[in-house]
This record gives sequence, C-alpha cells and structure tokens, in this order.
Amino acid sequence: MTTATTSANATDHAQPAHQASQEILLEIRALNKNFGGLQAISEVTMDLPAGVITTLVGPNGAGKTTLFNLITGHLVPTSGTVHWLGKPLKGIEPWQIARMGIARTFQDLRLFNQMTVEENIMTVMERSSWLWQSGKEAAERRVTEILEETQLSDKRNERAVDLAYAERKFLSLARIMASEAKLWLLDEPASGLDPRSFERFVALLRNYAKRGITICIIEHNLDIVIKLSDRVAFLDQGKLLAQGSSQDILKDPHLAAIYFGDRS
Ligand SMILES: Nc1ncnc2c1ncn2[C@@H]1O[C@H](COP(=O)(O)OP(=O)(O)O)[C@@H](O)[C@H]1O
Ligand SMILES: [Mg+2]
Repeated sequence: MTTATTSANATDHAQPAHQASQEILLEIRALNKNFGGLQAISEVTMDLPAGVITTLVGPNGAGKTTLFNLITGHLVPTSGTVHWLGKPLKGIEPWQIARMGIARTFQDLRLFNQMTVEENIMTVMERSSWLWQSGKEAAERRVTEILEETQLSDKRNERAVDLAYAERKFLSLARIMASEAKLWLLDEPASGLDPRSFERFVALLRNYAKRGITICIIEHNLDIVIKLSDRVAFLDQGKLLAQGSSQDILKDPHLAAIYFGDRS
C-alpha cells in the first residue's frame, strides 16, 4: 500500500468494510488539542468498534497519550468531539467517564504502592456499582478470578511496592479488569515485559476482546503490535496518517521511515 493511499484513506476508513456490521462504541470527530503553539492532536477522526483491539502507534511525541487524555476527560479538546455510546463526552469529568465504562492505565501505572494487591483491586470495585449490586462475596470471588487470570494469586496480600516489574504491570491490568469497563485504554502496558509474561499478556487481552471488551492500546514493540492488533492507527505529529491492518500499516515504507525516525 502506498503512502498516498493510506493517507487519503485515513478518515475514509474510519469504519473498515470487514467491521461494518460492528457497533461503534467511541466516535472521535475532527479532534484538535493545542498546547500553546504546539498542535498535539490535529483533526483526528476515528472510531473504536466493539470487541476490536486497536493499536495506536507512532513516534515519541506523536500525541498518543494526549489522545487518551482527551477521551478520558483528563484534557479538554481545543475543538472537535468525542461520543461514547452516542453521547457527547464534552464537559464530563474523568471520574464520571470512568463510571460510564471507559477505563485506562497510565504509563507510570499509578498503583497504590502501600496497599496490598487485593486492596488495589478492591478499590476499583468499590467505585463501581457492580459491587453494590452483586454483594461482597461475589466481589471477593471476582477478585480471586482476576488474581488467577493475572497469575497474582500468591501475591494477594503483598504490597504493590514489593512486586516485581512484570507483576506491577499485571496488577495495573487487574485493576482494569475489576472496573467492568467496556473500553480499555492501555498506555504502553506491555513495555519491558519478558517474553513469557508477554505471551500471557497477549492471551489475556485476546480473551477479553473475545468476550466483547473493546481495547485501544499504545504500544511501541512492533512484535506486540503484530500479535495483538486487529487494527492499527498510526499517529505522527498529532495527525492520524493511516489506519488499517497491521500488515498494511507496518509494511508501508513511508510510515516505517517516520516510525524509525528517518524523515528524509
Ligand atoms: N500537558 C501538556 N502540556 C504541554 N505540552 C504537552 C502536554 N502533554 C503533552 N504535550 C506535548 O504534546 C506532544 C504529544 O505528547 P504525547 O501525547 O505525550 O505523545 P506520545 O504519547 O505519542 O509520546 C508532545 O510534544 C508533548 O511534549
Ligand atoms: Mg505517551
């Protein structure tokens, strides 16, 4: 695929043909975010269809984290709109957006370091109406299940600060799982994982996507992008340059040159 084609299709392909029947959960339209003179997000239009894993790739500073912040209400757009299940998110606070079913992780994880693994998960559950509807016993069963899925069962009573790096990454994911959110926004969740942890991580996300969770993930490791993505969106200097299958995006020589820092 040539660059001219991918660029021209960037907005036309907001809903790829093979996903045409899928429900669109999140709709981003002509989104802009300026920081002073810097245009961090520029006219971005894209959809996140239900049950699809979309990877957001692009060089450092492309605007990936900013796009997440605009979706979650941590930043206010300069212009443009974001709709969730048909409802505009304009003016809605981050904690409300989280309650509406959009959960995210941060690059720096933001765990409660002095709390145990179980407490880190329970604090998420306590914020959702699920716990109140289902009762404490059901919540404890769900925690046990999540700990098994993330292989943290034997760390249940350890403090987050005492966990190994990969375990902290899985705890961050466990917190997302506990949120019962429909959309997961994951900011570099797999960076620095060893190969075995990485395989487990991919299997876990695939499993949740199969159950209907929609996932948008910022990822640098192209191996992970290829293994995990149904769809790749390529951002550069705030612009959505292309979106499509990982093969189409990653074999584009122009995009590869941008990705690897050679703009000549
Ligand atoms: N709160 C902010 N204030 C000013 N500039 C910011 C802020 N957040 C991000 N930026 C700038 O916006 C650009 C995009 O940043 P970011 O979204 O973090 O990129 P990425 O996650 O793709 O590496 C960068 O140039 C960054 O320095
Ligand atoms: Mg970032």
